[in-house]
Amino acid sequence: MTLSEYLKEQGVDDALHSIFMTLKEAVASIAEAIKISDKGKAGTENIYGEEQLALDVLSDKILGELFKKNEHVGLVASEELPDEMSVGEGEYAACYDPLDGSSLADVNLAVGTIVGIYKTDTFVGVKGDDQLASMIAVYGPSTTMILTVKKGVVKFQMDDKGEFVMCKSDIQVGEGKMFAPGNLRASAVREDYLKLVNYWMKEQYTLRYSGGMVPDINQILLKGKGIFSYPGYGDTPDGKLRILFECAPMSLLMEQAGGASTDGKVRVLEKIVERLDQRTPIFIGSKEEVKRCEEYLG
Ligand code: AHG
Ligand code: MN
Ligand code: MN
Repeated sequence: MTLSEYLKEQGVDDALHSIFMTLKEAVASIAEAIKISDKGKAGTENIYGEEQLALDVLSDKILGELFKKNEHVGLVASEELPDEMSVGEGEYAACYDPLDGSSLADVNLAVGTIVGIYKTDTFVGVKGDDQLASMIAVYGPSTTMILTVKKGVVKFQMDDKGEFVMCKSDIQVGEGKMFAPGNLRASAVREDYLKLVNYWMKEQYTLRYSGGMVPDINQILLKGKGIFSYPGYGDTPDGKLRILFECAPMSLLMEQAGGASTDGKVRVLEKIVERLDQRTPIFIGSKEEVKRCEEYLG
């Protein structure tokens, strides 16, 4: 079944269907760009003072230009742009991290794209629960998309013609001993996080951590178990990961697959986005593991 056939079967409206057609074009172009282009620095910084790679800038351009051409999209926001940007009259809005984990591209590890879709004329004041759909694309040995239109979670793989064909339906996340402990530096000063990580180690969990949130969450979704954590500490109590561009789209996928996602106290999808670059600690994956994180850290 192709992506288009799946979306029609789910009864999504023409506008959302067309947005996913734009997304599949963007993902195919970004996949091609990663294969052949320069892995070096762009010589610029984004507004968060993070050094941009040529590939960050290129991926952002690909998505921005394609969304501009889609009449159903009125607003975009990107990790690589200084502010949200009006792109037309459409009632849909797309926010994205064009290339997550981009610093892994030069060593040929998997990287990804994260997208959340809303109906809004500003992202200020939205919460993840307002999303109508979300998607992650993984650029690895194959190019894949895992998405939700809030009717469960499915996986598509790109074929040699750039068509996306379903390869897994009804993705479910249950329980199992696999952990991806991000920001382990925090355990040097946070006794609670050290205790939590020690618990996972003593219980002989399998370590699966790639340094890219997209491949790490992708793995939890596809193996159907596990936990990804990224707490804050010290000067960065909210950690590094952004609600709008990273955590909300991932949290929607995880909840739609039967998993959970919290900041330690509150469901990530309930958190109001007050600023586009707002960050949040995140603990996401199997329900029981997320509960354990809340018990240890909440
Ligand atoms: P980005 O490349 O978009 O800036 O984000 C990378 C993120 C995420 O993918 C990963 O889980 C996390 O940063 C890793 O953080 P550390 O560099 O703190 O290990
Ligand atoms: Mn990112
Ligand atoms: Mn990024």
